[in-house]
Amino acid sequence: MLSGSGGIFICPKCGNGLEPRGNSMYCSEGHCYDVSKNGYVNLVLGGKKDSGDGAELIAARGRVMEKGYYRALYAFTRRAFAFSEGDLIVDAGTGDGSFAGKLKEYFPSATVVGTDLSKYAVSKAAKKYPDVLFAVANSAALPFADASVSAVFSVFTTLFAAEARRVLAKGCRLVRVTPGKNHLLEFKSALYDEVRLNAEDESVPEGFVREGTFRIEDVYVCVGGEIKDLAGMTPYSVKTAPCRLEKLYAQPELETRTEFRVDVFIKE
Ligand SMILES: C[S@@+](CC[C@H](N)C(=O)[O-])C[C@H]1O[C@@H](n2cnc3c(N)ncnc32)[C@H](O)[C@@H]1O
Ligand SMILES: [Zn+2]
Repeated sequence: MLSGSGGIFICPKCGNGLEPRGNSMYCSEGHCYDVSKNGYVNLVLGGKKDSGDGAELIAARGRVMEKGYYRALYAFTRRAFAFSEGDLIVDAGTGDGSFAGKLKEYFPSATVVGTDLSKYAVSKAAKKYPDVLFAVANSAALPFADASVSAVFSVFTTLFAAEARRVLAKGCRLVRVTPGKNHLLEFKSALYDEVRLNAEDESVPEGFVREGTFRIEDVYVCVGGEIKDLAGMTPYSVKTAPCRLEKLYAQPELETRTEFRVDVFIKE
């Protein structure tokens, strides 16, 4: 719900702070952004049609998440971080908002904001997680003032590190979650004769120092239609020959490991 969001978002036109009033948010220059009935604000300029992930993919991701795909990542997040009142945590490229929802559950006194380019994703997320603030926004132009954010999470999405650096306060964390080299190994083995391990992103973004790198491993079991849901979330569903995919989908059950690589960086 955006009623308590005064002083958090900035106007994408002029950069002044946005304040909620009625069903809209206004800056001091009079620029106005409607708050949707689900309680999110659209801060992408230009009125272009919806971009980011589409409805079908987002629904499939939602089902996979509900089955505990991120279970181990959630447990790590709860253990590894501490946020409290006054902290502003941003989940950039939040998708269905479930990771942002967990952040709010673990750190209830902090303010948690989920942003995504997909209006459809944000709309669903805002309905499901009313304690989290949501905005349609591009991670390349985050709607926050310089140095106003306590942590930026970037989970399985495109990271715009320079923009994360701009919004983060000095000494605060950028958390990048990417696939580890063994992520979905058995799933890939069921599709290909020769499996290549994932190339890991080892880079340290400019203006940050690495605090630590962690590997979170788990096992994910899918049955029936859940195999197709999982495939739909990966690039393999478009890169693989249809006959191979059909064979995979016909399996009654698939057990595969997940491996999340978590890089924690501190803004210098
Ligand atoms: C693979 S999904 C990951 C979603 C979520 N972080 C998770 O881990 O479940 C990638 C998300 O990034 C969003 N996205 C892609 N490009 C973006 C951009 N430039 N700005 C904001 N969101 C973006 C997509 O709409 C999609 O919801
Ligand atoms: Zn303005």
